[in-house]
Amino acid sequence: MSVYIHETSRTFHLQNQQFSYIMKVLPNGHMGQLYFGRPIHDRENYDYLLEKCIRSHSASPDLLEGFSLEHVRQEYPVYGSADFRQGAVEILQENGSRLCDFVYRGYRIIEGKPRLTGLPATYVEDESDAQTLVLNLSDAVTGVELELFYTVFREMGVLTRSAHFINKGSKAVQLTRAMSLSLDLPDDQYDWIQFSGSWARERMPVTHRLSEGIHAIESLRGHSSHQQNPFVILKRPRTDEFSGEAMGFSFVYSGNFLAQAEVDTYQVTRFMMGIHPTWFSWKLESGDDFTTPEVVLAYTREGLNDLSQTFHRLFQNHLIRGEYRHKVRPILINNWEATYFDFNEEKLLAIAAKAKECGVEMFVLDDGWFGARRNDYAGLGDWYPAKELLPDGIAGLSEKIEQMGMKFGLWFEPEMVNPDSDLYRAHPDWVLQIPDRKNSLARHQLVLDFSRPEVVDYIYGLVSGILRESRISYVKWDMNRSITECGSQAYPADRQGEIFHRYILGVYDLYERLTAEFPHILFESCAGGGGRFDAGLLYYAPQAWTSDDTDAVERIKIQYGTSYGYPVSSMGSHVSAVPNHQLNRITPLKTRAETAFFGTYGYELDLNRLSEEEIADVRKYTQFMKDHRELLQFGTFYRLRSPFESNEPAWMVVSGDQKEAIVGSFRILSKANQAFMRLRLAGLREDLLYEVEGMGTFYGDELMGAGLVTSDAATGKVGENIMPSGDFSSVIYLLKAVK
Ligand code: GLA
Repeated sequence: MSVYIHETSRTFHLQNQQFSYIMKVLPNGHMGQLYFGRPIHDRENYDYLLEKCIRSHSASPDLLEGFSLEHVRQEYPVYGSADFRQGAVEILQENGSRLCDFVYRGYRIIEGKPRLTGLPATYVEDESDAQTLVLNLSDAVTGVELELFYTVFREMGVLTRSAHFINKGSKAVQLTRAMSLSLDLPDDQYDWIQFSGSWARERMPVTHRLSEGIHAIESLRGHSSHQQNPFVILKRPRTDEFSGEAMGFSFVYSGNFLAQAEVDTYQVTRFMMGIHPTWFSWKLESGDDFTTPEVVLAYTREGLNDLSQTFHRLFQNHLIRGEYRHKVRPILINNWEATYFDFNEEKLLAIAAKAKECGVEMFVLDDGWFGARRNDYAGLGDWYPAKELLPDGIAGLSEKIEQMGMKFGLWFEPEMVNPDSDLYRAHPDWVLQIPDRKNSLARHQLVLDFSRPEVVDYIYGLVSGILRESRISYVKWDMNRSITECGSQAYPADRQGEIFHRYILGVYDLYERLTAEFPHILFESCAGGGGRFDAGLLYYAPQAWTSDDTDAVERIKIQYGTSYGYPVSSMGSHVSAVPNHQLNRITPLKTRAETAFFGTYGYELDLNRLSEEEIADVRKYTQFMKDHRELLQFGTFYRLRSPFESNEPAWMVVSGDQKEAIVGSFRILSKANQAFMRLRLAGLREDLLYEVEGMGTFYGDELMGAGLVTSDAATGKVGENIMPSGDFSSVIYLLKAVK
């Protein structure tokens, strides 16, 4: 890893073993982008990469010979002058001007990686793991200074970026657009992959070929959203899972975002990612500063699996914090789908007792335990245990659960309030709202104004009180509606554009305080399932409820899609009842368990309703997870066959020393007289002999080259470990290197 600085040509070359990223100061003082891709030799000067032509209709404020902003690639472009593409920054000034002109002033290098105050971000513990280049620019007219941060990780194809503004001028300005990253690429030969969906159908990969014009995804819902995940891949058309060039952009942020690629008429691709400019502005009084959230840019030449593995390693080692960062996750049972709101202590204890018998380690009480929350019309915000359900409160229940030998976890939805609640009656002004306008309800609830510190303090007081007085090992932090009418009574008119962002900062603040005060508690984030599954929240909560859809067939797709950007250890996955509550589909218990193995694993049903035979299986699956969760959650994950393209999707995890692996192989619909099927594995050592349980021994090169024969009863049995016949089947293959 090196940062080469060439003072004479004013060139900056960031390099590690995976990529080179090269910039230079342009003739007009702006920062130009020269190259991003495979590592290349360092040299004093790469000016041959600068386009020096003036075309018809191009403009140049400085009348510089052969230089047009429209035709050079830039680092942090501005709209309004001679570049007609979308800009990364816009600053509204007192005189109505929106133009700025950020000119290079200098640089500094920081060993390691500085923190971003109040924001989640990747980090290094050892300074030698990363280097940060900070470029200083300034706009002479407004006096606003800009610092562009570039951190290169030593061991990984990762570069992170963010921008920091300081108003050194004498007048206030409004920042109305401040992207975290802008990157101009010299061609448009890319497939853009986005992860789209809706409630219960999150993160389905959707691919578009880039072409002239703008392609964008966004969230304007106040949370990163089920609809579009703040994660995009650009890959070369021929890149597949195992080879080829690709780059991934992950926004370490949980609120409104924009990710877009603008291809101009010369096939230059401008990629941008940051806080969505719609309804965003930030007032900078003289002396104030603003930091954008960070974007993680990962790069590979070895295919999409390698790109995903880079994100998995980065997030597990340099984003997720706390005790559970590298720790296997407890196997839990959650009562939501078992009881919904219809429970009392006796019922909960019966569910917990049966789960304990099956080896489950933690009982989680979901929604409905507080205030008047007997259904979803009332009680949100009143975080007091409902004594009619729980005579000894949460403290008493958690103690009883611990006496049974299990840990206890609890659900909160801290950011919300039902109009029918004591909290709302006492503080009707504590919700997001716009004067003289009606508030929209969603799931009968309103959104608390987390831009106000006193609201966050109040909720902190209640939640931390319960965490302190009870024996709580896990918190599920939910967020069940999108934000509408985003205004705050606590801020003046010229600061209303700050509320979306201030809201998220309030959420981060509460997370920070709770996770710091209760380091032993495992936090799982949730937003109606996977509506806020993003890198920002992983900084506080090492796992997230992947989706409210617990159907095994849908979960294969959702977990497969999620795996492009997020590690297995972050995906909450539960075995639920059949017929499935979201789809009414009946899948075998085996398939439900074997899908959930590739996640944090838990149950979401009343085990008392299962037969003796099924309970024996549940015990077996629970034990399997205990025996293998280290590898399942922290091994190297490979997508082998896509559920979006194949009736037989498959994935696998491989241990760090490559001596163990677990393959999950699924078949959606059964077929008569099937083909003779093989599955080519990945990530093994060619020269090692592996025992595949129930199948025989094979060399790594055989398993990766010829493949593991997975044929079943339809074609004649091969080995003992065969796919059961019937729809929605699965089989797990355990591989162990033999001497
Ligand atoms: C959301 C969550 C569910 C459950 C309910 C409770 O929908 O995603 O898992 O907690 O809220 O109301």
